[in-house]
Amino acid sequence: MRIRFPESFHWGAATAAYQIEGAWKEDGKGESIWDHFTHQPGRVKNGDTGDVACDSYHRMAEDVALLSEMNLDSYRFSISWPRIFPSGDVGPSAKPNPKGLDYYSRLVDELLGAGIRPLPTLYHWDLPQNLQYRGGWANRDTAGRFVDYAGAMTRALHDRVETWMIFNEPGVFTTLGYLIGIHAPGIRDVDAYLRAVHTVNLAQSDAFRAMRAESSQAKIGSAFSMSPCEPRGDTDADAAAAERWHGFQNLLFLEPARNGRYPDAFVHGPPIERMGVETDDLARLAVPLDLLGINLYTRTRITYSEKDPSGLGIHAQPIGFMGGDVGPRTDLGWEVWPDALYDMVMRITRDYDTPIIEITENGCAYNDAPDTVGVVDDARRIDYHRCHLEALARAIANGADVRGYHAWSLLDNFEWAEGYSQRFGLAWVDFPTGQRTLKQSGCWYARVADENGFDT
Ligand code: FCB
Repeated sequence: MRIRFPESFHWGAATAAYQIEGAWKEDGKGESIWDHFTHQPGRVKNGDTGDVACDSYHRMAEDVALLSEMNLDSYRFSISWPRIFPSGDVGPSAKPNPKGLDYYSRLVDELLGAGIRPLPTLYHWDLPQNLQYRGGWANRDTAGRFVDYAGAMTRALHDRVETWMIFNEPGVFTTLGYLIGIHAPGIRDVDAYLRAVHTVNLAQSDAFRAMRAESSQAKIGSAFSMSPCEPRGDTDADAAAAERWHGFQNLLFLEPARNGRYPDAFVHGPPIERMGVETDDLARLAVPLDLLGINLYTRTRITYSEKDPSGLGIHAQPIGFMGGDVGPRTDLGWEVWPDALYDMVMRITRDYDTPIIEITENGCAYNDAPDTVGVVDDARRIDYHRCHLEALARAIANGADVRGYHAWSLLDNFEWAEGYSQRFGLAWVDFPTGQRTLKQSGCWYARVADENGFDT
C-alpha cells in the first residue's frame, strides 16, 4: 500500500538549544538553569553536561547541510533565552546581546537559503539562572520577563520567521522541574509546582499577545507533550481516572489557552488558590493559538488510586513507566505504541474543532552504533517512524488537519537527566570529535520526504 501525505506537508526534524549547542558561556551567554543543574554532582547520569554537546554553536552550517541531505523543509530548533538576555532581565529598554542574536539570525538565513522553514521555539527549558534565584516559574514576575523576551525575539526575526512555538512541553518542565525534581531546577514542592503551572500559563497567553502585536502575520503555537490515556480496567473508576489524567497530562496548558479555564483533572476542582490565580486571570488566559504542536512518544495506561500519589487530588496513577506493558520497548524503556499518535491526534481534532496541528516531536532512543565501515544500521528506528507515520496518515484521512511532522531528533544529543546515554538522532554524533554521520534511518527518512510518503 502507498502511504501519501498532503502536497504542502512539512517534513522536518527537531532539536533544542541546550541539547545541541554547547558554547555554554561563549559570546556573552548567561548561565541557564540547565548549566547550573548539570554542574552539580549527581544530577545527570555519568556527570554529563551540555557544555559542549553537539557543538552546534560552531557547526550550524553542518546541521543545515544534514537537513538538506534529508530533503527536509522544516527545522524546529529552540532559542536560548540567556544567550539573548544573559540575566533574564529584559524590560522595554533592554538591548539583546548582539552576538547571541546574530547566531540565530545566521541560522535563520542559512535555513532560508537552503529552502528550509525555520520553526523556532522560544523556551525549551533553559531559563536564565538569575531568574531562578528569584523563584523561577514559581514567581509570577517571571511571566513578565518572558513576555518581554518573546516580544524582542519576534521583533528581531519576524521579517524572516513566520511560524513560532512559545513553549516546549510546559507539562514536562513544570512536573519534572518543580514536582519530581529530576530536571532543572531540581525542586520537589507541590506548591511551587502549582504556582509554576499558573505562571507558565499566564506567560504563554501574554507572550502570544505580545508576539501578535509585533507581527500580525506570525503563526503562533506551543508544543505540548501528549499521550493518550487508557483506563487499565473495565471499571467506571478507572475510566474516570484516565479522563482526569488526560486533563492533567494533555490539557493543563491547552485548555486555559483555548477556553480560559483549567481542565477537569482534579476531583475537587482545580486548586486555584494554591496556584496563585488572581481575579481576571482566567479571562486573560484565553488566546487564539494559530496552531498546536504535539510531541508524542508513547501511550499512558491509568488506574484509579485512592491514595492520590501525585498529591494534587487527581486520584489516578499511571501503570508502569512511559507506556503500557504490551508493545516492544525502546532502549530508554518507552513502549512503542503507534496507535497512540492516531488516538491523540483524533481526540484533539474532535475536542478542539479540528485545529491546525503539527507533530513537533516523535522519535525513539536506540543506541545502535556504527559498524566497522561506519554504517549505523538502526532498523528499529525506521520501523518506529514508519508505523507512527502510518498512524498519522490514517488520522489525516479521517479528517485531522495535520500540516507537518518533525522527527526527534536531527542529532544524537544531550538527553537531559540521561546525559549522552540515550541516542534519538537520525544522525549519529561522535561526541569526542563532533563528527556527524547519517544513520540508515536518516537515509530512509530522506526518501520519505522526497517522495512525500512511502510504500508499506
Ligand atoms: C521530549 C523533549 C525533548 C527530548 C525528547 C526525547 O520530552 O521535549 O527535548 O528530550 O523528549
